[in-house]
Amino acid sequence: MLPPIKSDRIITHLPKCFSAKAALQTKEVFHPQVQAACQTHDKDGMSFNVAKVIVVGDVSVGKTCLVSRFCRGAFDKNYKATIGVDFDTERFQVLGVPFSMQLWDTAGQERFKCIASTYYRGAQAIIVVFDLSRGSSLAHARQWLEDAMKENDPSSVLLFLVGTKKDLSTPEQLTYVEQEAVRMSDEIRAEFWAVSAKSGDGVRDFFLRVAALTFEANVLSELEKSGPRNAAGVIKITSGSEDERKRAKRKPDCC
Ligand code: GTP
Ligand code: MG
Repeated sequence: MLPPIKSDRIITHLPKCFSAKAALQTKEVFHPQVQAACQTHDKDGMSFNVAKVIVVGDVSVGKTCLVSRFCRGAFDKNYKATIGVDFDTERFQVLGVPFSMQLWDTAGQERFKCIASTYYRGAQAIIVVFDLSRGSSLAHARQWLEDAMKENDPSSVLLFLVGTKKDLSTPEQLTYVEQEAVRMSDEIRAEFWAVSAKSGDGVRDFFLRVAALTFEANVLSELEKSGPRNAAGVIKITSGSEDERKRAKRKPDCC
């Protein structure tokens, strides 16, 4: 049996965006249809609702540290390149409904890109990470997004642009980079966040927001497909996700 969901993974209100200037939405409550569906869902007959979230971006921008800070509350100052892809699952409860987020942390190194890109397909959310203290990584964000989008349906994917290593920048540097990032978020229709995996600043708020928005999008999409009576209880598991997980643990042989 699964352990109970941790208290800091229980979402009862729509978490706030980081900046209203670069938000996917600025409303403060869940969509009324989603609230209604969650209130009436059959808790006993309920299955897990699962979303696939992929994390992409330049080498060493801090993708693995970002995920580790959230999933394990840890930070490693020593760099260890991700080989291919790493996988974590985080369990939440959103409006009383169990919800899991599969986090696919992909490699930024060019030589592992071919294997990492095989895991892009079927994402409900894409997190493009850049290093706030390295401008070139923001410039490359668009290319990462384009590559990830080739494998996904642009109309149904939520995009997040996340600047990491906030602790390394002065307030003046941050103001400048954040302006650039807000501009890019607007162009690529992503929600912008600035965080630090080292201090933990913004990391939990960010992932709760990702969980809440992907959950809301999933329920709305199910409502559209199957009608309000069934929507809250629908299982949404990315096809082949178990196989993908097994493959992720294998050594890459194509690069
Ligand atoms: P690849 O797996 O090769 O694509 O790299 P990555 O994007 O996963 O980078 P990783 O998370 O491994 O971090 C790279 C380096 O940046 C490590 O030395 C981390 O300790 C450091 N780092 C990551 N996040 C932060 C942060 O928020 N602040 C500071 N100061 N350092 C960070
Ligand atoms: Mg990594």
